[in-house]
Amino acid sequence: MITYGKFDKASFVHNLIVTDENLQRLYGIVGGNVYALPCGEQAKSFANAEALCRWFLAKGLTRNGHVVAVGGGSVGDVTGFAASIFMRGVDLTIVPTTLLAMVDSGIGGKTAINLDGVKNVVGSFVHADTFIDVGFLHTLDDEQMLSGMGEITKYRMLGVDVDVADIGGTVRACAEYKQKLCEMDFYDKGLRHALNCGHTIGHALEIACDIPHGVAVADGLYYECEIAHALGLCGDEYRARWQNEIKFHFPLYKVTLSLLKAVKYDKKNVDGNTIGFALPTENGAKNVNLTFDEVAEILC
Ligand SMILES: NC(=O)c1ccc[n+]([C@@H]2O[C@H](COP(=O)([O-])OP(=O)(O)OC[C@H]3O[C@@H](n4cnc5c(N)ncnc54)[C@H](O)[C@@H]3O)[C@@H](O)[C@H]2O)c1
Repeated sequence: MITYGKFDKASFVHNLIVTDENLQRLYGIVGGNVYALPCGEQAKSFANAEALCRWFLAKGLTRNGHVVAVGGGSVGDVTGFAASIFMRGVDLTIVPTTLLAMVDSGIGGKTAINLDGVKNVVGSFVHADTFIDVGFLHTLDDEQMLSGMGEITKYRMLGVDVDVADIGGTVRACAEYKQKLCEMDFYDKGLRHALNCGHTIGHALEIACDIPHGVAVADGLYYECEIAHALGLCGDEYRARWQNEIKFHFPLYKVTLSLLKAVKYDKKNVDGNTIGFALPTENGAKNVNLTFDEVAEILC
């Protein structure tokens, strides 16, 4: 369930709150029931998940306990993972504080940590509630806002009609679109694949170029639009409209064959030589499997 309102730490005084060091400082989220993770991607490790589980234990968290994750996708991913394995799962509320987490990672119950440099390779599904307070966006820097806009571009390309000048309305429309898909396909067996639009190339760029997730997704959408067009799955007008918009707003990183091979470890990798795409088209996402050579022929 998603609810909207003003986050008040005092309402969660009986719960354990996990946040990160930036948010702790910016919003005074402190106290005996608060744990602060390191900021950003470095939080997503087994070591931090283990540290969280030890803290849950030390704080006497029981099977009926409730954990609240206040942060961006990194806090949500590792806290969600720890909450999903502690006593085989305790209740979780995600309070997303980045634009990307409000429209994407804070919804749908996927958790993940990184292992040996491979992103999101360990994870679980967890049923969580989401509490969205767009007031958190006031302290978010331009780079993180742009990253969220990358995911919002994906929703718009899939047909979600929003006025991006109205950020509250945009967040709500995207969050609810994702929530609806996830309710129909919680374990990501089919319908949810549409949300992977832009993510096959996007993940490779994110790792190779060390750029924010949503910026990589925007670039992924640019290139996957090119693939869809080459396969006759989308028309000239659709490709031109979205590629021009992405090029205007986002830095565009180059795709090479060696970068594509980074997809080898992606969960969308089908058999070592073939990768799965959810390609953007006028009629929603189309699932297609392509070999590395086929992709390279179109993009490189
Ligand atoms: N589980 C999912 O479904 C899913 C979906 C998409 C992305 N992700 C994951 O999300 C992660 C990226 O998350 P993210 O983009 O939210 O960034 P993030 O959580 O890594 O945070 C980025 C930075 O923004 C800071 N920050 C967060 N909120 C802030 C605020 N309100 N004001 C000021 N600073 C703030 C953080 O302290 C951090 O330094 C990636 O690891 C990605 O894999 C998960």
